[in-house]
Parts: sequence; structure tokens; C-alpha cells
Amino acid sequence: MDVKQIVNQMTLEEKAAMCSGADFWHTEKVERLGIPASMVSDGPHGLRKQPDESSGDHLGLNDAIEAVCFPAACATASSFDRELLHDMGVTLGKECQAEGVSVLLGPAVNIKRSPLCGRNFEYLSEDPYLAGELAASYINGVQSQNVGTSIKHFAANNQESERMSVSAEVDERTLREIYFPAFETAVKKAQPWTVMCSYNRLNGTYASEHKWLLTDVLRNDWGFEGYVMSDWGAVRDRVKGIIAGMDLEMPGSSGANDRAIIQAVQEGSLKEETLDLAVERILNIVYRYAENRQNEAFSREKDHQKAAEIARQCIVLLKNEAQVLPLVQDEKIALIGGFAEKPRYQGGGSSHINSHTVPCAVQLKDQYGNMTYAKGFTADGDQYEEDLEKEALEVAEQSDKIAVFAGLPDVFESESYDREHMRLPDCQNQLIEKLTKLGKPVIVVLHNGSPVEMPWVDNVQGIVEAYLGGEAVAEAVMDILYGEVNPSGRLAETFPRRLEDNPSYLNFPGMQKQVNYAEGIFVGYRYYDARKMDVLFPFGYGLSYTEFSYSNLKIDKSRITAKDTLMVSLDVTNTGSMEGKEIVQLYVSDKTQAAIRPVRELKNFTAVTLKPGETKTVSMELDYRAFAWYDTEQKDWYAAGGTYEICIGKSSRDIVMRTEVVLENEKEKLPKIDENVMIGDLMDCTKTADYVEERLMPYIGEFIGKTSMKEMDEMERSMVYYMPLSSLRSFTKLDNEGLGELVDELKNHMR
Ligand code: BGC
Repeated sequence: MDVKQIVNQMTLEEKAAMCSGADFWHTEKVERLGIPASMVSDGPHGLRKQPDESSGDHLGLNDAIEAVCFPAACATASSFDRELLHDMGVTLGKECQAEGVSVLLGPAVNIKRSPLCGRNFEYLSEDPYLAGELAASYINGVQSQNVGTSIKHFAANNQESERMSVSAEVDERTLREIYFPAFETAVKKAQPWTVMCSYNRLNGTYASEHKWLLTDVLRNDWGFEGYVMSDWGAVRDRVKGIIAGMDLEMPGSSGANDRAIIQAVQEGSLKEETLDLAVERILNIVYRYAENRQNEAFSREKDHQKAAEIARQCIVLLKNEAQVLPLVQDEKIALIGGFAEKPRYQGGGSSHINSHTVPCAVQLKDQYGNMTYAKGFTADGDQYEEDLEKEALEVAEQSDKIAVFAGLPDVFESESYDREHMRLPDCQNQLIEKLTKLGKPVIVVLHNGSPVEMPWVDNVQGIVEAYLGGEAVAEAVMDILYGEVNPSGRLAETFPRRLEDNPSYLNFPGMQKQVNYAEGIFVGYRYYDARKMDVLFPFGYGLSYTEFSYSNLKIDKSRITAKDTLMVSLDVTNTGSMEGKEIVQLYVSDKTQAAIRPVRELKNFTAVTLKPGETKTVSMELDYRAFAWYDTEQKDWYAAGGTYEICIGKSSRDIVMRTEVVLENEKEKLPKIDENVMIGDLMDCTKTADYVEERLMPYIGEFIGKTSMKEMDEMERSMVYYMPLSSLRSFTKLDNEGLGELVDELKNHMR
């Protein structure tokens, strides 16, 4: 289809109308020109297609078609498995084709800055590398079925409090290293058809009007080719938005913004070419879908099985003292807790799926073993009920082991608002404590979208983190409990001991519509590891029913340049007695001391399945970016020459093998030359060290009393180090004119 040609035939009114939704879920059609409407739907972990236009909503309140609820991102991220996310994407893409949905609104990749964000369940990780890799796999999966995705919410939408107005105040290095890379990786590796801009402001400007964000970074730096749509109701000044690169307003403005666009073009404040570009980008995607329809059928039964298969690989075994798990079939198990009857398997808000079928542990128990159920507490809130507690304690007394199905009730976490604390309901904590006093092994199974404090952690023998595992979560949990499946999930976020330990604690959610990301790049484990802080469970942590040993760590080069790719390989052996999947994590640690850096950062990972006794060699690549940080002076990624440690870990805290590589970087970090450049920076830089000796020493000598840098002792050097060039004017005979000459000379010298 020649889209440019079509745009040429459109009237100004038709073009303006094309830049906002026709209704809650459709783009505008133009019958005169044969332009079809196209439908978009939430996302991300299932299809929330609302069939009736009049009851469309963005909070998951009204009816949607029956669909399959897959595990939410908090769970899928714990798989650390790119193939799994791809596979889930393919299934969702096929469902979209079957249902006539052109763009699935996801994945949601905002970084988990605080455990309190009400929407963390929908987000992948606190780590940008992991979030980016998994998002790219999911997108490639969905889009392999000729259905688009909308990666969201771009950018710095890390809380629900005041989400439609708050300004996230974030410095550029932190944006580039923490809050952007998930989007950047997805754009570079998967080219999502669309990007959804967020509600909030970023450093004072609404994301929907942010030209630097939507054009300079997204399109010019990363090469995004699709269209940007607004989050539902995120538009303020529509004309500014078009100029910034925000193409499609959703759901629309009842025509008010169409008129604003028309008027702006007529008055000349908006160039018609700019509008044409937005329309062209939207139509490219509309036609990409329309011209590649696939004949698919949506089998809810089959996809339910897929949801179960995925859920099994997302569960994280957090504690297994004295091998309390797996359970043995004839052991008498007390099955306690309302979540065994009503599993919490998805979060509230726009991602809420009208699920096909949700089996629960109580229904499944007889297929697995000898379990007796007592509710103990409700899954719906925090109400202590004496009768329920009494009954639970009685059933527990009669058992060999106790399995408590606990979790966060729906109202505790959802889109649209944040959590107030990090605790489970008191009624659950109290019962768990009482159960631990019976002298029988206690296993807690958790259903939650983000970390909880565990006051009973030392008194229970087993902890299974099921997260919000989708509609088949109960089947997956039972398979893990009874050892049908070996757990392989790893935490994609740190579980701090207390909320107060979290780096954003003093700056979340901000006040007066402003939130200061004062912790900078030290988000999640980057902070806890730097502070050597005790945590409940570290990033990357998770147990298995088998054991894995690592050996033979090799790198294919001991010295690399900025252009090289380093190949890291090692052997992984299953030394236990059960088949299992191991997640091998690769962290890089910068030893050059050239910049403030986290202790180590995840830069690759791989999943490997091994039979007992089996060994496989795994290989992971590292490119220059894996070593680099974002230098805001140079406006570029930079890794200083020097030594970097390659760490292979079972979590960010459990590094089991290490080796070193030397990076030779001819590209030296050059000081920015103006009258405030520090003399120390000029001394350190190979290009300017001679200049300091020849041209600056005569001035420095006036107050240090030496004629050459070599004569200066360490203390004298240190005293001069932090002096800006301009300070020579205060302490020497250098005047303004002379200072200007030095600056010009230095600039020439750098060329
Ligand atoms: C959410 C988006 C969602 C949209 C449409 C908004 O409230 O933030 O993630 O895609 O609604 O339902």
C-alpha cells in the first residue's frame, strides 16, 4: 500500500481525525478512501477485548470477552527465560489475529523503583537489562504473528500516585542507564509497532508533549519506526504533542483536539508536513495489520494449558529447609488459607482479564495427595475470624506438614493507586505465626504482585513465591509442591527486609506533583549491594530441587577493544537427582574507578535444562555497552580503559566464579573545555597533560613555588587538582583576556 499517496488524498479534517481514536479502542476509518479502522486492546498478559464500544473503559471495570489469563509480568520475569516470553507472545499474537485485534497494549516495562508501586505486578523487573531482553522476546513473539505491540509506559511512570500529573525529576544518566534501556533494547531488537507514552511529566514536561523523549531519543537515537500513542487520557496540549512526535491520541477528545489541530495548521503554528508524518506513521501500522491477516482460531482450552506451562517456569522457590519440599503423596498435608480456594492470579486495572477458567488448589488437591483444607483466613481482605483460625489450627494439628496459601488481597495492589505498606494482611501473619508454633513443618505459598515483608521467615521451612501466576497458577503450584516440576524461577527484584531499606523510601511518591529520583542509578540491587545491606532475598535468587555446579569459566579474549565482542562460556552440571532448569547470571563489575558505578550489574543470562549428571556448556556475549555508563558530558556511552570483572552468579549476592578482562579504549574521556574545566582533569588527560606543564605551570608556579609538575609533591598536586582554570585569575597575574586566550588555545589543542 502506498501510504504516502493515501495521505496526499486526505483532507485536513480527515488527517486531524486520524490522530485520535474513533472510540475507546479503534482508530478512525475513512470510507471515501477505503482506510479501515483498526482495533487495539489490553494487554499485556491476556486479551482484554471489550466487544461493546459504549462500555469501553481503561480500568478493567466493564465486560470483556472471555480470554485466557497468562502469568503477569512479575511472574514471567522470574523465568529469566527469553524463549518462554517469545512463546507466550506467539500465543497472544495468534489470539489477537483470531479476535481481530491489531495491536496488543503491552508489554509494560517500567522499572520497579519502589515495592509500593501499585502496578509493579504488571512490570518486569528492577533491572533494565532483564526487562529489555524479556520485553524484546515478548514483542518478537507477538509481532511474528503480524500483530503489533505497544510497549508502555514511556517514560518514568514508576508510581500510580498522581500518575496523571506528577513530574518525575530524573537526571539524564539515570534515565539512560535505568529507566530507558528496557524501551531502547525493545526498539533495537524487536521494533515494536507502537510505543505508548505515559501519563506523567518527565522533568516538568508531559510525556505526551516531550519532543526530546519522543523524537530525539526514541526515534533519532534508537531508530523507532512505528507510531506513538498516548496512554488513555494522557493528552493535554494536542498540538504540542503532534510537534513532539505523539501521533495518536487515545481514546480521543470528542473532536475538540481535531479542531485544535486544524486551527493550528490554518494559523501556521503547526506545519501540515508534521501532521502528515503522524498520519503516515499511524496508517503504516493500520495497513501492516490489515494486509497480513491470519486465519487463527482462539482455543481457550489449549491456551489454558500454555498458561499452565508458562506458570510452572515462573514460580520461585525461596526457602526449602531440610528439604521440606517436594511433598510426598501420602504425607498428611493441612491445606490452609483462602488463596487455596480463590487464588490471586492477576492484578486490578486495565490488564484485568475475564478469565476462561480458574482452577484452585482445593479442587485439585485429591489428584495430588492427601490434603485436608481449612480456610483459616479470607483471600479478600484483612478480617480476623476466630472460627476460621480455630478450624485451621485443628486441621493443622492432625497433619504431617502445613501448606499455607497466603497473599495480597486484590484491594492491596492495583493500577491507579500505590500500596501503603509492604505487609501481608495481619490476619495472615498472625495465623502463620501460630501454625509455626505447632512444631510441624510449615510451607507458605505466596500470591502477590510485589515483595512483602515476612516476619515469620525464620520460623517456616518452605516458601514458594507464585506471584500472580495467571489463571492456571494453582495447577503450577501443585506441580511444584509435589515435585512434578522442578522450580526454576529467580527473583527479578530484590525483597528488602523492610520497606525503609528501599532506596526510594524517602522520595516515594513525592509531594506537590513532583517526585525526585534522588537515588539516581542506585535502584534495586544496585543500591542494596553498594550498601552491603542485608536483604530478605536478593535479586536473581531462587532454589531448585536439584543442585547445579559450574566449572571451566572461559573468556575468548583476555584483552578487548571497544569494537570487540567478548564471549564468556562455562560448563554447568546437574549434580543432583532431578531434571531441572538453571538460570546462569552474568554480572559485570567495573574496576577502573573512572566513574561512580554499581558494584556489579546484570549484563547477560541464560537458561539451561539438564538431566541428572548432565553437563552443558553455555555461552554468553558481552559487547562494549555491557561495560559502559552514560556520560552526560560527552552525550554518549563510555567505558574507560582498564580492568573489568566478569562474575557468574546464582544471584547478585552469590557470585560463584570470576575472571577479568582488560578493555583497551583508545577513546579517552575528554574534559569539556571552558573556563571552569578543572586543572586536575587536564592533568589526567593524555591530550592535555603536556599543555598543563608548558602553559599552566608558569601560573601555578606563582603560588605553588615549583616550575614543573614533576617537582610538585602529592599534597601540592591534590591542592591544585580541583581548581577550575578560572581560579588562576584570582591567584596569579592572569587577567580576563589571558584566561580567554588559554581557553581558546586549549580548544585548539583538543582538536
Ligand atoms: C493504562 C494503560 C492501558 C490503557 C487502556 C490506561 O489506564 O495505563 O496501560 O493500556 O489504560 O486500557
